[in-house]
Amino acid sequence: MAQFQLPPNSKVQSGKHHPLSNGAKNARRFVVYRWDPDAGQNPRTDTYEVDLDTCSPMVLDALIKIKNEMDPTLTFRRSCREGVCGSCAMNIDGTNTLACTKAIEDIKGDVRIYPLPHMPVVKDLVPDLTHFYAQYASVEPWLQAQTAAPPDRERLQSKEDRARLDGLYECILCACCSTSCPSYWWNGDRYLGPASLLQAYRWIADSRDEFTGERLDELADPFRLYRCHTIMNCTRACPKGLNPGKAIGEIKQLLATRTL
Ligand code: SF4
Ligand code: SF4
Ligand code: FES
Repeated sequence: MAQFQLPPNSKVQSGKHHPLSNGAKNARRFVVYRWDPDAGQNPRTDTYEVDLDTCSPMVLDALIKIKNEMDPTLTFRRSCREGVCGSCAMNIDGTNTLACTKAIEDIKGDVRIYPLPHMPVVKDLVPDLTHFYAQYASVEPWLQAQTAAPPDRERLQSKEDRARLDGLYECILCACCSTSCPSYWWNGDRYLGPASLLQAYRWIADSRDEFTGERLDELADPFRLYRCHTIMNCTRACPKGLNPGKAIGEIKQLLATRTL
């Protein structure tokens, strides 16, 4: 039987322990992945004890407290702190989600935090999303039409046509779905993944866009689209409650019945 092992320099080692010194009664341990590309060392997990009585309720609040009060070298992305920017996506307690909307009290035991899986790591909890964004750009996520817009107003939609974009336009490109997809793990170089495909469908479904045929042509490919095997990890992972698996199914159905 084939045996798979991590190369020695990829093995995650046990790192530093940062205890609380003031005898806090409500302490929780946060076990956080650390890797510094300049240190020439293996990745490690550092353990921080955080006093929850002096910490706001979300996992991102604890990370900010750790960085401000215990260890300024800890690196992570965040911006809006309200689930809108998508930048604080990481793997918390075994699930890809947003640190700013994940409540500490919903996690039992130690809070384990890793970067989004199967992505190159820039440092600590920061994944390299260069390829992910290039794939997003490749679906040309903007309105394309040959018909000129009316000179005196915007392009209008019926209420029904506008409603078809619900569940699509809310995507914040956090990458939680794509990095939870086994097909994306193994074929992410050529498979677009659920986030970019949901975004592609957002423009296919837009009644104002006139390039539906061209968009479908671009997706009709054994790797770009058809590496999706409907495992639905993506939909389970989405912290915004969207359904990228369904959007992918809609594209496949359009391709199967296409007239454009
Ligand atoms: S449904 Fe498709 S995109 Fe979603 S996790 Fe499964 S294979 Fe990946
Ligand atoms: S579909 Fe959901 S999980 Fe995927 S990128 Fe958009 S918001 Fe994030
Ligand atoms: S900080 Fe913006 S989504 Fe979490």
